[in-house]
Amino acid sequence: MTVRAPGRGQMHLAVCLPGVGGAAVGAGPRAGSPVEFSSFERLARTAERGLFDFLFVAEGLPLGEHVEGVHDPDEAGRPEPVTVLDALAAVTERIGLAATADAAFDEPYGLARRFATLDHLSGGRAAWHMVTSADASTGENFRRGGCLDPAERYPRAAEFLDAARELWDSWTPDGVSRPFSCRGRHFDIAGEFGVPRSPQGRPVVIQAGDSEQGREFAASAADVVLTRHRSLDAGRAFHADVKGRLAKYGRAPGDLKIMPGVTIVLGDTAAEAREKAAVIGRQQVSPQHAILALERIWGTDLSSYDPDGPLPDFDPVPASVLAQGQVRTADPVKVAERWRALSRAGGLSIRQTVIEASGRDSLVGTPQSVADVLDSFVREGAADGFVLVPHPIPGGLDEFVDRVVPLLQERGAFRTRYAGTTLRSHLGLGEPVWTG
Ligand SMILES: Cc1cc2nc3c(=O)[nH]c(=O)nc-3n(C[C@H](O)[C@H](O)[C@H](O)COP(=O)(O)O)c2cc1C
Repeated sequence: MTVRAPGRGQMHLAVCLPGVGGAAVGAGPRAGSPVEFSSFERLARTAERGLFDFLFVAEGLPLGEHVEGVHDPDEAGRPEPVTVLDALAAVTERIGLAATADAAFDEPYGLARRFATLDHLSGGRAAWHMVTSADASTGENFRRGGCLDPAERYPRAAEFLDAARELWDSWTPDGVSRPFSCRGRHFDIAGEFGVPRSPQGRPVVIQAGDSEQGREFAASAADVVLTRHRSLDAGRAFHADVKGRLAKYGRAPGDLKIMPGVTIVLGDTAAEAREKAAVIGRQQVSPQHAILALERIWGTDLSSYDPDGPLPDFDPVPASVLAQGQVRTADPVKVAERWRALSRAGGLSIRQTVIEASGRDSLVGTPQSVADVLDSFVREGAADGFVLVPHPIPGGLDEFVDRVVPLLQERGAFRTRYAGTTLRSHLGLGEPVWTG
């Protein structure tokens, strides 16, 4: 085992508060309330005890809407992320606080103001996870006549971020406010920004796109990229691809951190961990969720199907009303083929197939084997760190912090104390250059 010098090649860790629904706060008997502050506080304090870089609050503006109305009462309840983090800033001292906000439906002035305020309240710990939703039901929430043209998602996001930076930089580092003006295709705004320059200058920007446009945007503008590439080979390829794009923007490989999302299930033995993972899978994928997951792939009403029966034998319906506006990261026909193969190989029902498919990204094992895998991903250039999705929330992170973090620290793969006070310093990012 090689022990690294502190800070060199160490991984970054974040914890995700995934919102509500299947894989989330409400699932399982040991889960806490999805809306009470005590749940958020417990998770944030545990992550800070574990010296994590940041806590990340996911966001989806529609409430699990499907066909007509909210499909599952379990999914009701998504508190607004920046508000949650403003409150957490008061009960934490070092951990970074990252909120998801949608560039497709928000506006630069209001958003820049909220994040600058969070950066002030937290003493320089704010991050904006910028998403560019193309979901039709999100659009309905905002009465903008449906979803943003998918081709406009990233152009609008790029203009949005330019505008936010212009606003943050409209105050000089020594506290003088100057008028701003942003004239573009999506935004045409001018005036004076209401919040003085915040401790980080600009909050950290996180992005999670996987498409060609998403990768390019991340390389040009983001500080952190979240990804679903979880195998060593896929992680290495993604890492090399995105980092390879940085030079043309005058950026160095260390200026952008790549962090795959991963669910971790721990046990004293490998068998016990697998057993726990199976229980979690059944808690997260109810019979109703299984049919819903299938409908999202097949794009058609499958409510008459038995969750304990076989998968549909026809192919997904292309461009159906059900699929409209959904952000797709994979071709539904290919996903359906994969799911059918899984079902055939294991003799699995619809529900068992969904459990098996959604558990594929989990890292299941003993604390030692999990620490080995996480460390090897970083050493082999497949990741700079990880966003953990614990189960249940808020208690599911305790075991990782108590049992895996010390193993990572022992081998020099993770910090033993916070060296600085801002999120930029935890992530090893430089100060942003003031462009006012
Ligand atoms: C770890 C991770 C977390 C994500 N969290 C959110 C989220 O909270 N809200 C959201 O709307 N999208 C979220 N996404 C989706 C991405 O923002 C993005 O829409 C998706 O990766 C597709 O982007 P692309 O069209 O560029 O491939 C997340 C993605 C990843 C990998």
